[in-house]
Amino acid sequence: MSVRGAKNLVPKAMVAAILGSEPSVLRNVPAIRDVDVVRGLLSLHGVEVTSGPDAGNQDGELVLDPRNVESAHVADIGMHAGSSRIPILFCGPLLHRLGEAFIPDLGGCRIGDRPINYHLDVLRSFGAVVDKLDSGIHIHTSGRLQGTKVKLPYPSVGATEQVLLTAVCAEGVTELSGAAIEPEIMDLIAILQKMGAIISVDTDRVIRIDGVERLGGYVHRALSDRIETASWASAALATNGEIYVRGATQPEMMTFLNVFRRIGGEFEIDENGIKFSHPGYDLNSLVLETDVHPGFMTDWQQPLVVALTQAGGLSIIHETVYENRFGFTDALRDMGAVIQVYRECLGGTPCRFGQSNFNHSAVVSGPTKLQGGSIVVPDLRGGFSHLIAALAADGESKVEGIELINRGYENFMGKLGALGADVTLV
Ligand code: EPU
Repeated sequence: MSVRGAKNLVPKAMVAAILGSEPSVLRNVPAIRDVDVVRGLLSLHGVEVTSGPDAGNQDGELVLDPRNVESAHVADIGMHAGSSRIPILFCGPLLHRLGEAFIPDLGGCRIGDRPINYHLDVLRSFGAVVDKLDSGIHIHTSGRLQGTKVKLPYPSVGATEQVLLTAVCAEGVTELSGAAIEPEIMDLIAILQKMGAIISVDTDRVIRIDGVERLGGYVHRALSDRIETASWASAALATNGEIYVRGATQPEMMTFLNVFRRIGGEFEIDENGIKFSHPGYDLNSLVLETDVHPGFMTDWQQPLVVALTQAGGLSIIHETVYENRFGFTDALRDMGAVIQVYRECLGGTPCRFGQSNFNHSAVVSGPTKLQGGSIVVPDLRGGFSHLIAALAADGESKVEGIELINRGYENFMGKLGALGADVTLV
């Protein structure tokens, strides 16, 4: 099966195109709902988005022409309320192009409070004025935004992207410390550099941006989706099988591959992808903590937990990025998994959730045979992990709310079918 461009890069690369004075070309774009949402929002703002010319658009090519950017009607933008968290990243580019932006209430997965305080603080520090309205947020500026010094309290992916997309055209130098350095952020920096931006990534999470007056377009192939790759890798372990993921790349997967190998999983890397296999004997349990890059990604956690239900002994998982990301384990327990969640920081270093009331550690005891069940998808990654559990389980499972999974997994029904799963849409 094939994995294409990263869900957590592609929509942001689409937003970056607004900053250009010429059209941009983005390749390896997956057909997922988050891309459709951003495409719709860009169109509302006068950005012409067309799919590439080749037959069936095999290369997943999008051409984004921002030459006629304009303000959108608030009522039209409001139609997109609750559909994604990406709209908040329109602020910087729209402020540069139009002097104002309106952002609807955000969506995204319900895996914690997911505030936007860092984003708003960042925008204010560039000189933008932020007005909170009932329907969303109106942001404006009377002149060119000014380069600034920003120190993030936590290396937030979105807030780092907010700084990048705003600083590239601001007047003067911006210095960001406490930045996130995820591979998707590095790919966004590569795109901005192609457009004419000057960005240096220094040691210790410091990023320096020299603002420029004008950016051009870019031609770029999005880096591959490391979350989807890890999801299929975990499926191979959970189902005692073997899955070749075409398009998977090693550098972004290194941290995951180490953990995969520690559990007992086997993999082979070639120039086109990675083959993941169950070793044919019992898997090992392990102690794991999620973290910002280069740590073990929070989004790899849920699919892996399903695989760990098949490992012998006690595994401990400490979630340190989101306070509330173990809700999906309820359905796994109903299917026969033995998983307990705890408020304490288990298994490692205390995290910022240690003093609060959130169930952010889990102990998985295995191996346990899973039984088919009736599941309602809670969020994107949790939902995919339920699909994996359904594949690994004895008997039939009914999964409701799969449209949430379309947000981030391209053609997952087709891919499940190709793996030999008997899947029917009812
Ligand atoms: N945070 C704040 N205030 C803010 C922003 C973030 O307190 O203004 C907190 C969050 O509540 C969270 C932590 O900071 O506890 C990290 O959040 P971050 O900003 O890094 O996350 P994000 O940018 O909203 C992106 C991905 C997530 C992924 C995280 C971490 C996108 C669209 N989403 O979210 O992906 O889990 O980074 O890597 O890029 C997913 O793909 O299913 C998904 C949830």
